[in-house]
Amino acid sequence: MAIQPAFALAAHSVRLASPTDFDGWRDAARRLALNEVKPEDIEWHIGDAGGTGRDLPPAPVGVELRVAKDFIDRAAAVACHSHSERFALLYHLLWRQRQEPHLLRIASDPDVRRFEAMEKSVRRDEHKMHAFVRFRKIGDGNSERFVAWFEPDHFILERASSFFVRRFTGMLWAILTPHASAEWNRERLALGPGASKDDAPAADQSEDMWRTYFASIFNPARLKVKAMQSEMPKKYWRNLPEASLIPGLVAGADQAAREMIARMPTMPAPHHQAIQARHWPAAEVPTETEAQSIDALRQQASQCRRCPLWSEATQTVFGEGPDDTELVFVGEQPGDQEDLQGRPFVGPAGKIFDAVLQETGIDRTAVYVTNAVKHFKFEPRGKRRIHSRPNAGEVQACRWWLAQELKLLKPRLVVALGATAAQSLLQAPVAITKQRGQTISRGDGLAVFLTIHPSYILRIREAEQAAAERARFAEDIRTVRAMMAA
Ligand code: URA
Repeated sequence: MAIQPAFALAAHSVRLASPTDFDGWRDAARRLALNEVKPEDIEWHIGDAGGTGRDLPPAPVGVELRVAKDFIDRAAAVACHSHSERFALLYHLLWRQRQEPHLLRIASDPDVRRFEAMEKSVRRDEHKMHAFVRFRKIGDGNSERFVAWFEPDHFILERASSFFVRRFTGMLWAILTPHASAEWNRERLALGPGASKDDAPAADQSEDMWRTYFASIFNPARLKVKAMQSEMPKKYWRNLPEASLIPGLVAGADQAAREMIARMPTMPAPHHQAIQARHWPAAEVPTETEAQSIDALRQQASQCRRCPLWSEATQTVFGEGPDDTELVFVGEQPGDQEDLQGRPFVGPAGKIFDAVLQETGIDRTAVYVTNAVKHFKFEPRGKRRIHSRPNAGEVQACRWWLAQELKLLKPRLVVALGATAAQSLLQAPVAITKQRGQTISRGDGLAVFLTIHPSYILRIREAEQAAAERARFAEDIRTVRAMMAA
């Protein structure tokens, strides 16, 4: 039992076991309210701090206490607020609801307003914690652990931890805060005492990753400083590695926006015609026989005319990586940058891909990276070339190349990045959001791991959600690494 009633002459004094002892409050409040004890006759104390009073009266048998349906759920959030009078306010509201059953609907009532403001503040703090916790890795191999330091405004660690348990179930991690700590051992969450920032590990190489990611999603043309600061309030900056970039990015935003517009996907660069002329000797229609090496296959693919996409693209963007690798990643199709450079995943989605590979300990130069479709498909809009999804016929036509690549490489595992890759590899429609994280064994024995395409993260406008999706993507790739290590 969480309550330790004590004795006092004038008031009922309730001592709760901890700052978040909502069960203790609930039990005491029920007993006190059913015994008609007025709010002004109760003192609420936490832990060892103070607390003398009379024994709590037992609840009368067979009497029910009626409160609004959602009051308990909302009160559980308010109980985590850092205000010292939160438990008194909750009892006050409980007491008033006996006579005013619709009290919580009266938005102008000062008690209700305080209650709502506290609830909102706790829920916001929880959201911010989900978005802004940054783990640092300690140890390697079997002793790999992740530790984060965070400074919430309220006592939210326990509430917020279930999110991290769901997201990082397979990792060993701990979150330290000034008032409590939480440790996950892949089976159980243990709550412990508060810590200090010095107890958390110092900056590690993942900080660079966050900075790379933040710089890659930062869009100077869309910069709204106030909105950004409300999404990522300054008080969180000191524990966010990427925040050190913000002043520079904001100061240079005008210039960067101009440069970005200049860099926007353009009509093919001047060398486009020259590259095409080299790859498409007039009047020659290439035919393919089965190549004996990836290099020979690449050479054949450079002349592909299996579908009409070749005619608008600058060049074939073939796969790259060692031909004795055991791990292959398959994307959708090259984008603007890939088309111009002739290499897969070198544009914005490639930046996220690279960062996540590095963060999860996979060396990009040791794996083979390719696409389901090898030519850039786009629609011209003014001077820009806007990515356009390949249709089923184009994916099917290009499947021949992917099949040849896999036949020569004979990988142990292929990772499908997004639905197009998955469909090409499995020849069946795939619901990536539902099936991500699964490994499907094809009829020919090839194992295909399903996850999202990194460009999906780039399309999410809301920073918090983007960070969460990125973390899920990293978790998927970590699973891939573990499968390869097995
Ligand atoms: N998206 C892809 O699917 N592939 C690339 O090479 C680049 C972006």
